[in-house]
Amino acid sequence: MANERLYETLSSIHYLKFSLFFVFILTLFTKISDSAPLQRLNGAKADCPGSATYDVLIYGSSPAAIAAAIQTTRMNKTAAIVCPANHIGGMTISGLGWTDSKDGNAIGGIAREFYNRVYNYYESDSAWSLETRAQYINKNIAAQPGPAIDESNQVQWTFEAHVAEEIFETWMEELNIPIFRNETIVISDGGVIKNDGRINSIKTQSGQLYDALMFIDASYEGDFMAAAGIPYRIGREDQEEFGEPLAGVQIAAEESYLGMSPYIEAEDPDSGLIQGIDRVITDADAQKLNGTADKYRLQAFNYRLSLTQNSENRVPFAKPDNYDEASYEILLRYIEAGYHDQFFTKQLMPNLKTDTNSNGQVSTDFLGANFNASEETNYIEQSFVERAAIADRYKTYTQGFFWTLANHPRVPARFRASASTWGYAKDEWTSNGNWPYEIYIREARRMQGNYTMTQMDVQTPQSFDDDSVIGLGSYTLDVHEVERVVIDSKIHNEGLIHVPVAQPFPIPFNSIVPQSDIITNFLNPVTMSSTHVAFAGIRMEPTYMIMGQSAATAAVLAIEQCAIIQDVDRQELSDRLKADGQILSL
Ligand SMILES: *[C@@H]1O[C@H](CO)[C@@H](O)[C@H](O)[C@H]1NC(C)=O
Ligand SMILES: *[C@@H]1O[C@H](CO)[C@@H](O)[C@H](O)[C@H]1NC(C)=O
Ligand SMILES: *[C@@H]1O[C@H](CO)[C@@H](O)[C@H](O)[C@H]1NC(C)=O
Ligand SMILES: *[C@@H]1O[C@H](CO)[C@@H](O)[C@H](O)[C@H]1NC(C)=O
Ligand SMILES: *[C@@H]1O[C@H](CO)[C@@H](O)[C@H](O)[C@H]1NC(C)=O
Repeated sequence: MANERLYETLSSIHYLKFSLFFVFILTLFTKISDSAPLQRLNGAKADCPGSATYDVLIYGSSPAAIAAAIQTTRMNKTAAIVCPANHIGGMTISGLGWTDSKDGNAIGGIAREFYNRVYNYYESDSAWSLETRAQYINKNIAAQPGPAIDESNQVQWTFEAHVAEEIFETWMEELNIPIFRNETIVISDGGVIKNDGRINSIKTQSGQLYDALMFIDASYEGDFMAAAGIPYRIGREDQEEFGEPLAGVQIAAEESYLGMSPYIEAEDPDSGLIQGIDRVITDADAQKLNGTADKYRLQAFNYRLSLTQNSENRVPFAKPDNYDEASYEILLRYIEAGYHDQFFTKQLMPNLKTDTNSNGQVSTDFLGANFNASEETNYIEQSFVERAAIADRYKTYTQGFFWTLANHPRVPARFRASASTWGYAKDEWTSNGNWPYEIYIREARRMQGNYTMTQMDVQTPQSFDDDSVIGLGSYTLDVHEVERVVIDSKIHNEGLIHVPVAQPFPIPFNSIVPQSDIITNFLNPVTMSSTHVAFAGIRMEPTYMIMGQSAATAAVLAIEQCAIIQDVDRQELSDRLKADGQILSL
C-alpha cells in the first residue's frame, strides 16, 4: 500500500512536472505566435500551405519571370522557371533594346539593376567591337527614359539583344535558379491541378508535373491563367463598359494612305480588296461601330529586328521562300502615291545596329495577320501549332518586306539603293538565322482580376489607399493599328491609339491577383487585370520587370504570413517593396 501511495505521490509530482512543462511550452509557443503576423492566430484566415518542391513556380520567360525568380531567391525562398522558350528574356532579348519608358526615374528595383548591369557591361572596352563607347556617347542619343548611356545614374537604356540575354543567363546562374526550358503547359483540362481554390501543380506537354506553394504566370500570352480557369478578356471593351473614351473600335476620321485605291483593279470596287485591308464599311456604320467592343481583333504584332549598315556585320536582305508579291501591293501603291518617308525605324543600339520597329502606314506591323475575321478568332485562342504557323507567316512577310524595298522594280531606284545599305546583324540570334527568337505579342489575354485598371487610372491616377502600389507605369497609351478599313473608297486605319500620359501612374496590387473565390495562390504580372486601353500604357518590358518583382514579393509574404494571396498584408508589402528599391511614387 505504502508503495502504492508513494508511487501515486511520485506520479502526481511527475504529472505536475509534466503539466508545468506543458504550460511552459504553451507559453513559449504563444510568445512565438505573438510576434508572427495576425493571420497565424486567426484560425479562420490561416492558410498555411504544407510543403512543395518549390516555394514559387514561375511560368514563362519574359523579363517579369526573371525579376520574379530573382526576388523570390533574395527572400530566401526557392523559385523555378518553367517556360516554352529555349532562350529566356522575352522581347528584351528578342530585339526590343529601345527601352519603353518615358521616365527612367520611375524604374527601380531589379529592373533598374538590369539597366545598371547593361551599363556595367558597356563600360568595358571589350564590349565595343565596331565603335567606341565615346563615339556612341557622342551621338547624343536621347533614349525614351533618358540619355542612352546615363553616366550620372549609371544606367544604360539601349543594348544589343545578345547582351541582354547574356546578362539574364548570368544572373540566373549566379542565383542557381532552375530553368525548365522547352516546357509548354497543357492548356486543356488537366494542365493545372487545383484543390480547394489552390493550385497544387501544373503539367506540361512533356508530361512533367511541377508543384509549388505559389504560382506566377509571367508569359505574354496568359496561357497558365487560361489553363487555371481564371476569367480573362481578349480584344477591346465597349466605351460604355468602363466609361473609357478611347475604348472599342477606333476608326480614324481621315484616310491615311495618300488617296490610293484599296481595290485590286484600282477603278473597280467589285474586284476585291488588296491584301492588308480588312473590310468595307459605310460612313454611317463607321459612326455606329466606333467605340463598340471587338472581342477578337488584336493590335498588330511584329518582329523587332537588329539591322546594320556595317558591311562587316551585315547579312543582305533575301527573298524568302513563299514570297507572295500580293502582300506588298499595298506598300508599292503607298510609295507610288507619294510616300517618301522612313519605312522602318533605326533607333541606334551600340555597335552600329538598330532596334528596328514599324514606321509609317505600311511597315513591319503586319496588320490583320494575328486574327481571323471570318472565324472570329485570333493568335491567342489558337493551338500552339497554328500560333507557330502565324509567327512563320509574319517572318515571311517581314523578310519579303525588306527584300521588296531593296529589290522590287516598282520601288524607285533611290529607295532601293537606300534599303540595300541595310541588312540583318550577323552577330545577333546566331543560332536562329539572325532572326529574333520571339514575335512581339503586344497584347494578348487580360485577366479579370480583383481590380481592373482603366483609362482613368492611367490618365488621372488615384492613390489606392486601401491597397499597395506595386510599381509605376511610365508610357504613352500606345496601341498599334488593328486593321485597315475602307470608307468611300478610301483606306482608314482602325485601332491606333497614341496618347501621351502626363506622368507615371501607379499600379495597384489587386490588378495582378485573381478574385479570391477563384484561385488564392496565383499572381499575374504580365497579362494582368486591365482594360485594353489601360494596358496600352502598362504593357512595357521595364514595367513587366517591376510587376514581376512585386508579384514575387507578395508571393513570399503570403507564404510567410500564411495568408491567401488576396489577403497579403498591404503595409508589409509596401514596406518590403520600398526596402527593395521599387519606386512607388515620384
Ligand atoms: C536570407 O538568409 C541569409 C543567410 O541565412 C540571411 O543573411 C538573410 O538576412 C536572409 N534574408 C532574408 C530576406 O530573410
Ligand atoms: C530546347 O529545344 C532546342 C531545340 O528547339 C534545343 O536546341 C535545346 O537543347 C532544348 N533545350 C533543352 C533544355 O531541352
Ligand atoms: C472614332 O472615335 C474617335 C475618338 O475615340 C475619333 O477620333 C474618330 O474621329 C472617330 N471616327 C469616326 C469615323 O468618326
Ligand atoms: C480564317 O480561317 C478560315 C477557316 O479556318 C481559313 O479558311 C482562312 O484562310 C483564315 N483566314 C486567314 C486570314 O487566316
Ligand atoms: C480583393 O482583395 C481584397 C483585399 O484588398 C480582399 O479583401 C477581397 O476579398 C478581394 N476581392 C475579391 C473579389 O477577390
